[in-house]
Amino acid sequence: MTQPKLFDKRSNYIMHFLFLLLPFSFTSAASLPNPDGPYNVGYSQHIIPQITLNDPTPGPGNAILSHLYFPTHDSNRSSPRDNWGDALELLRGLLDQLTTELRRDASFLSAPTGDPTVLFSPAAGFNAWMYKGLLAGLASHGYTVLAIDHPGEPPVVRWPNGTDIIGLSIEVYEFRVTDLAAVLAWFPTFVRNAHALFDTSRLLALGHSMGGSASVTFAPDHQSVEAAVNLDGGFSQQHTVLTNAGLPVLLKSSIYHTTRSDPSWAEFQEHQTGWWEHIAIYGSGHLDYSDIATWSEALGLPPLVQSNLVR
Ligand SMILES: *[C@@H]1O[C@H](CO)[C@@H](O)[C@H](O)[C@H]1NC(C)=O
Ligand SMILES: *[C@@H]1O[C@H](CO)[C@@H](O)[C@H](O)[C@H]1NC(C)=O
Repeated sequence: MTQPKLFDKRSNYIMHFLFLLLPFSFTSAASLPNPDGPYNVGYSQHIIPQITLNDPTPGPGNAILSHLYFPTHDSNRSSPRDNWGDALELLRGLLDQLTTELRRDASFLSAPTGDPTVLFSPAAGFNAWMYKGLLAGLASHGYTVLAIDHPGEPPVVRWPNGTDIIGLSIEVYEFRVTDLAAVLAWFPTFVRNAHALFDTSRLLALGHSMGGSASVTFAPDHQSVEAAVNLDGGFSQQHTVLTNAGLPVLLKSSIYHTTRSDPSWAEFQEHQTGWWEHIAIYGSGHLDYSDIATWSEALGLPPLVQSNLVR
């Protein structure tokens, strides 16, 4: 097991973003882009028991928080306030203004959509809620999405009862892999007890940045996980560079993330025996795979300069 790495200033994207926002003041509510699929999106939170031995974070080390996004026909609305709330005064009145269109604890569909379930792992030090655009978008198209937070890792994780766990922004790559396995093990019993018709036999592992490379590492060890998508995540040299997942892997990157700038991606592409594709989106930056870039837009700010932010 590698030592947890404390973030340096430059790699802490969230704080970087907040400092960019400091000179601005906000007066009107802004909305994130709405999910564009045929379904409305339901949302619920679940605490999943998961013992993390020698957890280097200040989290409790015995549970993770998961966020379920799912298709629903319910049309009542609520805005989940699972953001950093009071924990970071800077954010008060700012992120609260970004409203979303999720239906909390909505009812499940009475027929399966036929789409696989997606397990989602955020970037190091990021919360799952920073990906609502992507995750709610997937759910609106019929996918069930389970996203995870490791309490103690991002600056703040708020439990459903309102208690905040203040984190250290430390990188816990190995724990992401075992956290994903814990969610996968928990899911079938949950689905049975909830009488939901979510797919428990066909899953896709999806993640951003470190969460993306953790998804690729996690997927081959679990029969029900059929493919992985890595959004701009380097297979950091501190971790074992995964050279062959065997199953289909889609790599999506910012324009700054190339096999030349990241030898771990070159190594992966050389050895992977399963199907793979690498798509670099022209003009995109690392944060375009999260909501953070859209926060600026929704709040009427100039676009973030991302050329110095890589994986
Ligand atoms: C939303 O509506 C459904 C019925 O359509 C109901 O069961 C559920 O409790 C409602 N949720 C909220 C938060 O009001
Ligand atoms: C809130 O929930 C967390 C997670 O289940 C638990 O550890 C904590 O004790 C709860 N806090 C209160 C005040 O109930």
